[in-house]
Amino acid sequence: MSAAELNGRLSKVVIIGLGLIGGSFARGLKQAALCDQVVGCARSISTLEKGLALGVIDAAETDLTKAVQGADLVFLSMPIGATENILSVIAPHLEEHTIVTDAGSVKGCVVEATQRVFGETPLNFIPGHPIAGSEKSGVAAGTADLFLHHKVILTPVENHSPHALSIVRALWEALGAEVVLMGHLAHDKVLAATSHLPHLLAYSLVDTLAKDDENLDIFRYAAGGFRDFTRIAASDPTMWHDIFLANRTATLEMLDGFTEGLSQLREAVETGNSQEMLGVFTRAQAARGHFSTISNQRAYLEPMSESTNQQKTAFILKPGKQVHGKLRVPGDKSISHRSIILGSIAEGETHVEGFLEGEDALATLQAFRDLGVVIEGPHQGRVKIYGVGLNGLTAPPGDLYLGNSGTSMRLLAGLLSAQAFPVTLTGDESLSKRPMGRVANPLREMGVKIDTAEDGSPPLKIKGAQNLSGISYKMPMASAQVKSCLLLAGLYADSTTVIEPAVTRDHTERMLHGFGVSIAQQGDMVTLKGGQTLKACSIDIPADISSAAFFMVAASIAPGSEILLEHVGVNPTRTGIIDILRLMGADISLQNTRDVGGEPVADVLVRSANLKGIDIPERLVPLAIDEFPVLFVAAACADGTTRLTGAEELRVKESDRIQVMADGLVALGIDANATPDGIVIQGKGNKEPQVFTGGSIESHGDHRIAMAFSVASLRSGDEICIENCANVATSFPSFVLQAQKVGIQISVKDI
Ligand code: S3P
Repeated sequence: MSAAELNGRLSKVVIIGLGLIGGSFARGLKQAALCDQVVGCARSISTLEKGLALGVIDAAETDLTKAVQGADLVFLSMPIGATENILSVIAPHLEEHTIVTDAGSVKGCVVEATQRVFGETPLNFIPGHPIAGSEKSGVAAGTADLFLHHKVILTPVENHSPHALSIVRALWEALGAEVVLMGHLAHDKVLAATSHLPHLLAYSLVDTLAKDDENLDIFRYAAGGFRDFTRIAASDPTMWHDIFLANRTATLEMLDGFTEGLSQLREAVETGNSQEMLGVFTRAQAARGHFSTISNQRAYLEPMSESTNQQKTAFILKPGKQVHGKLRVPGDKSISHRSIILGSIAEGETHVEGFLEGEDALATLQAFRDLGVVIEGPHQGRVKIYGVGLNGLTAPPGDLYLGNSGTSMRLLAGLLSAQAFPVTLTGDESLSKRPMGRVANPLREMGVKIDTAEDGSPPLKIKGAQNLSGISYKMPMASAQVKSCLLLAGLYADSTTVIEPAVTRDHTERMLHGFGVSIAQQGDMVTLKGGQTLKACSIDIPADISSAAFFMVAASIAPGSEILLEHVGVNPTRTGIIDILRLMGADISLQNTRDVGGEPVADVLVRSANLKGIDIPERLVPLAIDEFPVLFVAAACADGTTRLTGAEELRVKESDRIQVMADGLVALGIDANATPDGIVIQGKGNKEPQVFTGGSIESHGDHRIAMAFSVASLRSGDEICIENCANVATSFPSFVLQAQKVGIQISVKDI
């Protein structure tokens, strides 16, 4: 029901208790003209007079029984401890159609009060709790927009009247609130943690300090931390007294957990246990950041509403002409994951520079914090990991949520299969559909008890406390993630050999070597003996060639362009993009090639060129596996046909990249045909500047699809709108800024 549909349904609304919440509700109703008359009812005549004088209410009444006569809706907003008394006074005077709702901060006691008064909760009674307020109280402090963009939790009982619920919901929505439904017990637990405990602590801290004469200066000089932490101690004492009595059990449970944590921290301070302190502080800092991420409605780490959030971000691209300039794209995603994983199980402190602060790598970082590793940062790409050794990880407090990151899930599956504790790995909607049998099956051969969903997809449930035996495994597909998973598990087995059908990225092998692990590589075979100690080291992560790829194609297809991409990782297992573009006629040169901590790095200069269509050699497929979306854009701009075969792996990436790209290319006027293992693209060539028509593209939440079609705008005749782009933050959070910097006309629209 919308605000407009409420029109004419509510004649008389009675507000019992005209404080901050009741007053604000009344103001909101009147401002939006949601009923004919708002009647205020309170014990204090001066409150009612103030309400009338301020125009908050139309009429005032001190007698409850008179007030509720003929009411269509009664809103209870007095202190929660008065609920039962007030209900028993008004009960005989309510009409059958009267809807009753409340704003109490605890819901279990309200439901119980209705049961005692009425025998059972009336079907027209919809308990509610607006998560809004301020430390100020009283009718004068109220505002009509107090609830705007705030959540209101409604906890309707079983068999409630759907009509009553829809009216109460519509009222809150008309005041700008977001309504959430929840059971009353769940509500009380959540609120004990998020609201009641913090209020208790604030009151207690201020009282403790105020009692101590020597501490009085604190109030004189109060600023910063003290002021932030204790703001809520200025809240209404009666209200909070009632809340703690009403939500005693859940609050005590939270308080006990907090007391335990506090005494551990006390001990750490007393004994100067830096690691323990840093552990608590870095975990808390990360959790606080995560909290802001959720409130800012970004995609990461909010599994429940993530798909809605993704739909909110679209890229709008105006046709561009050229790209120019110098860029250093963010750190390599694959190497960033591995730096955290190996740093965590090493002995000593590992220092990382150039870490990718994208959501995928951060998911791995957070997982290791949850596994008990103290990690400082990231601060501008710098991370410090206090390694716990091969056997020092501890059981996480809950499931490990890995967002969109397939690499995190597959690599962690290997490492965590060898730990003494069980663990469950989960992911977002896209990751939850991706194949995990490819790691679960060989791990089972090593003796791991690991379950997937029936179709082999996540969650991965790993039993733990098992002895792993080494295997020799011939991978059925070319996958660095599978290889790395088995090598990580192999650190805990006697001897593990992985044989790959084609060369895949070898960052795990190189980094293991950097941590002092000896590993034998021979042709397509890599062998690792378990039980070796990893020694902490320093890691300098080069810029990600997979992110640089977008600008390589951008500069290649847009006539008159020139771009220098600095400090790019050019590990030969990753340079398929350069090889393929060169086969198509691209003008790419590598300058200042050097070795950075065991990984080759170069500055890559790209100038525009007339590209031609080619048959992409299959041996290059694993070496450019993440770059095909943008390579398809290059193919559309090339003269002649480009054919890709042997790339069925693209169908099981963050999206089915063959189909999604084919659909997008066709939507932009390109002749593109998906095949089971590749695609055939008829390039439009270099004669016309405009290759793509404008149009709307669905990225399916796949970061690389979104970025690839952004590049297409350089040769588009009209605007391109790309939907569902929030996940670009998984691998390249600064993409929009960097693209703008070199001349791509991109803007972000939140829908
Ligand atoms: C990765 C390996 C590749 C790649 C992914 C990162 C890695 O996946 O697509 O983005 O870091 O090992 P596969 O191993 O599944 O090919």
